[in-house]
Order: sequence, then structure tokens, then C-alpha cells
Amino acid sequence: MRIAFLLLCFCVDPLWGQSSVTPPNVASVSVKARTETELTLEWNKVTNVGYVLKYFNGTEIPLSASMNGSMVTYTVSSLSAGTKYTFTLYTVLKGVRSSGFQFTVVTSPSNVASVSVKARSEIAVTLEWKKVHNRYSYIYLLRHNKTETYTPIYWGGSVATYTVSSLSPGTKYNFTLYTVFGGERSSGYNFSVVTMPINVPRVNVMQQSENYLVLSWEKGNGNNISYILVHSNGTETSITDSDKNSPVTYTVTSLSPGTKYTFTLYTVFEGVRSRGLKFSSVTVSRTVTGLRCERVSGGRALVLIWNAPAGTWTGVEVLVEGRNPQYSNGTRLEIRDLQPARWYHLTLKLLSGAIRSATVSVSCQTDPKGVIAGATLAALFVVFVICLGVCMKCRRSVLNRKSQREKPTHSAPIQGLEEGGHNAPVQAKTRASVQKKHLSRKQKSIKPLQDNPYQSPRCH
Ligand SMILES: *[C@@H]1O[C@H](CO)[C@@H](O)[C@H](O)[C@H]1NC(C)=O
Ligand SMILES: *[C@@H]1O[C@H](CO)[C@@H](O)[C@H](O)[C@H]1NC(C)=O
Ligand SMILES: *[C@@H]1O[C@H](CO)[C@@H](O)[C@H](O)[C@H]1NC(C)=O
Ligand SMILES: *[C@@H]1O[C@H](CO)[C@@H](O)[C@H](O)[C@H]1NC(C)=O
Ligand SMILES: *[C@@H]1O[C@H](CO)[C@@H](O)[C@H](O)[C@H]1NC(C)=O
Repeated sequence: MRIAFLLLCFCVDPLWGQSSVTPPNVASVSVKARTETELTLEWNKVTNVGYVLKYFNGTEIPLSASMNGSMVTYTVSSLSAGTKYTFTLYTVLKGVRSSGFQFTVVTSPSNVASVSVKARSEIAVTLEWKKVHNRYSYIYLLRHNKTETYTPIYWGGSVATYTVSSLSPGTKYNFTLYTVFGGERSSGYNFSVVTMPINVPRVNVMQQSENYLVLSWEKGNGNNISYILVHSNGTETSITDSDKNSPVTYTVTSLSPGTKYTFTLYTVFEGVRSRGLKFSSVTVSRTVTGLRCERVSGGRALVLIWNAPAGTWTGVEVLVEGRNPQYSNGTRLEIRDLQPARWYHLTLKLLSGAIRSATVSVSCQTDPKGVIAGATLAALFVVFVICLGVCMKCRRSVLNRKSQREKPTHSAPIQGLEEGGHNAPVQAKTRASVQKKHLSRKQKSIKPLQDNPYQSPRCH
């Protein structure tokens, strides 16, 4: 080094003697092109001189610079991105160099490696990126729709964040993030972010069945909106609907009857979900089985009985024609103020919240026993009265016949002949009268000549 210096002195010394010819410095040096690793320098030609470029690290390079017309360009390569370099450019004439023109230039800084969305709402996004080379001297410029904004610098930490606000929901925005160093920006990192889409305003349950639900909702504004329906058990279903005008309808299947289901419907734009609209609906219960009646003695009421179905239900509604509905939350209901021996048509609907199941019906008759007993009694009474009347008549006719017949018994010859004796006409007469009933009863089986007064009237 020292030898080189001495050598240099030795060579240069005589030239100083020649005096006068110290060449002028270049007027200025500009950067014609700049990358992260190369700088193309450019300056106005100085007549008849050579050039030596002294590097930041002391290395001196005699330039074999290309000269196009009045401009000289030279490209320095193998540099580091986003770094400040100081060079000195000497002009050299006949071994004599100028005082040197010192200048400072910077290479382009590197782009950020990536930008992520740290937080997102319908109107704002918070962007996050790793600081380039973890250098605090870099600043960042965010360009959006030709508007450029310097993001505030947060000292410390290797991560920079910036929130862009006043955006519209469900919209895709293109940004370019530049790293800036020494007034120079990087090539720019292009990225796009989308804001969160808004929820659909409402989900209507169009149809409720035992094992499916038909849902419907109005489309949100904007293109390329799809939907994700999340079942409370975690199952997610993607729903795309290409029909632009009508509401979206979707049928959730494989559900259980009489069950409350909770869903969350997300609007999805470019893979970003809305906050999610939570809603619940209930499938229709299986309706009751074994609907039947029990009679209540006296026939003034009926007890309606049914078997409760599995699943959730809140009660039953029982309807009797011409009456207000009655409700029960159990499995039986007494219906009062009915007429005996009358048929009633009873319909029953199982309730699950506000939802009514299909109708089940049964026809029941109130207890007819009371009425039958009364009717029977009345009938019997009528029969009795008729009987009584008839019997009275019969009896009279019998007595008449009897009295007519009794007259000839007073004549002894006939009596004696009958009894086989003629010496006791009085006795015989007495016996006959005493044993009249007995005889007549005996005679009935032997020779029914006489009418039996106790028999059903064989009256004419
Ligand atoms: C100075 O830097 C240049 C460019 O990076 C390099 O080529 C050269 O070897 C360096 N010289 C020394 C002495 O480090
Ligand atoms: C971009 O800027 C133009 C005019 O400055 C404006 O009309 C347009 O709405 C802007 N676009 C967005 C997405 O902000
Ligand atoms: C970044 O986007 C701009 C327009 O905003 C475009 O001119 C440029 O070419 C893009 N750069 C890259 C690397 O895609
Ligand atoms: C909709 O999305 C598809 C792919 O996700 C894209 O190719 C298309 O350009 C988008 N249409 C609109 C109108 O944004
Ligand atoms: C059924 O209804 C009665 C009275 O209306 C009430 O006291 C009872 O708590 C209800 N039972 C159930 C399970 O809801």
C-alpha cells in the first residue's frame, strides 16, 4: 500500500512540475437508471479527459466509460438494495486528476415481501407487512387509485401496519405499496384487498316441513357474491346462485322433525365472509299418534287422548266444530259441555312454537248410556201402560165369561155328574168354590178349556 503510494507520488510528481493542467471536475453526476443492485451514472463529457471512479470502500476504478455524444455513462453493479453510496469521480488529464466530484446516490429499495390483512371491516382494512430488511430508515408509500399516502412510521418492531378507511363494503381494491429510501421508491408491490361484504338483511323461511326447511333471501348488491350457510353442528354449505334477479332459495335437507335449528348465513365476496346472519327455524313436529277418546259417564264430556311424538313441541291445539280452539301441553284434554250420545268431530294440531303440524282428527261419541236408560224406561212405561189397559180389558172379559159359566154350576145334576157323586151337592158346591183357583190351575194343564187370566191376553 505504502509502496503503491510512493510509486504514485513518484509518477505524479514530475507532472505537477508541468503545472497548469489540473483538469476540471465534472459539473454533475446523475443516475440514469437505478435498480436494487445497479446504478447507471451519467455526466456531461469533459473534453479530452479520462475518468477514475473511487468507490465508497476506497476501490478506484479507471473507467472505460462509453461515450455517446456529449454524455458519459457508467454502470456500477453488485450493489446492495436500498443503500446509500458515496462515490468520487475524478477527471484525469495526462496523469493529472481533478480535485474530484463527490456525490451520493442510493440504490432502489426492495419491495415488501408481502402484505397481509390484519383486520377487516365493511369500510376499512388494516394492512400489515414486514419491514424490508428490518430497516427503520425506510418509509412506505401506499398508492390507491392514483392517490398516494405515506404511511406513518412506527419505530420499533419489525412489522408495519396501516389502516385504510372510508372504503365500501364488498369491494375489491388494488393497492401498490412502495418502499421509499433516500427519496427513491421501490418498484412497487401490487396487491389487492377486499372489504367485508354486508350480510343479507333477512332470511325468510318459506316452507317448514318435518325434515327440510326452504330458506330464501334477497341478493346483496354487487357481483360475484356467493353464500355460505353454516349449520350449528358446524357443517358448511356453499351456495352460489347465478340467477341475478330473483331471491336466492335454498332447501336444507336431512333435518329431524320438530327440532329447532340455528344457522348462520354468510355473504361471501372474493373469499371474504360477512359477519354472518344468525337465524333459527323449527322443523314441523311429527304429529301425534293414537288419537282417541274416552267417554265420561253421563255423556257431558269427552277426554281426548294422544301419544306425544318425539322431538320438540310446545303443545297441541284441539278444535271442536263451532267452538274456540283449546290448548294442552300434555297428552290429554277434557272437552266439556257436550251433549250425550252425540258424535263430535275433533281435530288436533301439534304446535312447535308458531308452527302448526298437519291435522289429525277423530270422531267420538259421548256416553249414550243415560239416554238409553231413559229411553228404555220410557219404552217400558209405555208397554206397561198399554199392558195395563189391555189386561184390564182382558180381565173384565174373563170375569164376564166366568160369571156366565158359574151360573150352571149351581145346578146339582151337572155338578154331581162331574164329581161322580150326587149325594153332596152342597159340599160339592162348597169344595168347588173353595178349590176354584186350584182347580182352574190344574185344569189349565189338563184340559185348557178355560182362559188363563194370567196369560197374555188372548182377547178378541
Ligand atoms: C468495493 O466495492 C466493490 C463493489 O461492491 C467491490 O467490487 C470491491 O471489491 C470492493 N473493494 C474492497 C477493497 O472491498
Ligand atoms: C378512483 O378515482 C376516481 C377519480 O379520482 C373516482 O372516480 C373513482 O370512483 C375512484 N375509484 C375508487 C374505487 O375509489
Ligand atoms: C402494478 O400495478 C401497476 C398498475 O397499478 C402496473 O402498472 C404494474 O405493472 C404492476 N406491477 C407488477 C409487478 O405487476
Ligand atoms: C367473478 O369472479 C371470477 C373468479 O372469481 C372472476 O373471474 C370474475 O371476473 C368476477 N366477476 C366480476 C364481475 O367481478
Ligand atoms: C303446561 O301448562 C301448565 C298450565 O298451562 C303449566 O303449569 C305447565 O308448566 C306446562 N308444562 C310444560 C311442560 O310446559
